[in-house]
Amino acid sequence: MEYTTLGSTGMEVSKICLGCMSFGSDREWMLDEGESHDLIERAIELGVNFFDTANVYSAGESESILGDVLAEYDRDEQVVATKVRFPGADDHRNARGLSRKTVEQELANSLDRLGMETVDLYQIHRWDYDTPIETTLRALDDAVRRGQVRHVGASSMWAYQFQRALAISDREGLARFETMQNLYHLTYREEEREMLPLCDREDVGVIPWSPLGAGYLARPHEEFTSTTRGVHENENAEVPYDEGAGSQEINERVQELAADYGVTMAQIGMAWHFENEYTTAPILGTSSVEHLEEAVEALEIDLSASDMAYLEEPYEPVPVYGHE
Ligand SMILES: NC(=O)c1ccc[n+]([C@@H]2O[C@H](COP(=O)([O-])OP(=O)(O)OC[C@H]3O[C@@H](n4cnc5c(N)ncnc54)[C@H](OP(=O)(O)O)[C@@H]3O)[C@@H](O)[C@H]2O)c1
Repeated sequence: MEYTTLGSTGMEVSKICLGCMSFGSDREWMLDEGESHDLIERAIELGVNFFDTANVYSAGESESILGDVLAEYDRDEQVVATKVRFPGADDHRNARGLSRKTVEQELANSLDRLGMETVDLYQIHRWDYDTPIETTLRALDDAVRRGQVRHVGASSMWAYQFQRALAISDREGLARFETMQNLYHLTYREEEREMLPLCDREDVGVIPWSPLGAGYLARPHEEFTSTTRGVHENENAEVPYDEGAGSQEINERVQELAADYGVTMAQIGMAWHFENEYTTAPILGTSSVEHLEEAVEALEIDLSASDMAYLEEPYEPVPVYGHE
């Protein structure tokens, strides 16, 4: 495993963050408790120390599963991230959003499910248009001061919103967002326009979600719906893995480089993130120990500047996705 510093937090994290959205029972492609345990344990064996979950994943089941496994290990070594904004185990009006009431309640619920007194990174899952960001930032800052949260981060939003939140934290002396979890992969690079240069300038750690385009970059495009998860993504197509005029060509170039290097397509998709100037640690989503092992092996692939340019060249702009 290789490690890197997560933005301005100073925390050392594995260059692969394990996404925990696949743990629980919300969808048929998810792993049950026993299978999730095996995957998390293998990840730790491989040196993964960075885990991303959310109150909303399988209505809190993902947090419970992760907490149960991590309880068997040295908690001090692990960097655990969770999120608030969508409802967790309870779905009522005040289980969603970013009001002080929701943040405080949902944080307490998340800590309870994780079996932890402190979470390393607490992220707002989206912008909340009904709560002034000042209110949310104060509630988060209080959580930091209470010792329930070490660092705060944000997920998909407009760059102007993120910049505004950072400016308010600085002005008011509040804990500032130190990470950005956004949608970013070879066939979705709209974030390079504003958000990623902003993160770079502000020393914000970038931890992309769906780094393989929810699996689109892991197999030939015509086979995307060959898995249950692929069928789900295709039907709910919120993520623009194949929206761009250049997406199929990129997918084919990933196949070509995979053949040249004697590796899998997923490994090229991950290697692109490892080589990429913006990504700190991609959040891999997998339900397979073998695929997790492949991702770790991909750390050894050194894509050249010309490989990077070749993969990126067919990209054409697509509509902005992943947030309102
Ligand atoms: N902040 C947000 O709004 C947000 C939104 C979505 C996700 N997330 C986070 O990001 C994480 C990852 O999201 P994601 O699952 O969409 O990411 P992803 O890694 O882009 O896609 C996962 C898909 O790729 C497939 N895959 C991975 N490695 C593979 C390999 N070596 N060979 C073949 N297929 C492979 C997986 O299949 P297998 O299961 O068969 O490996 C799965 O279908 C989530 O767990 C969650 O923590 C955050």
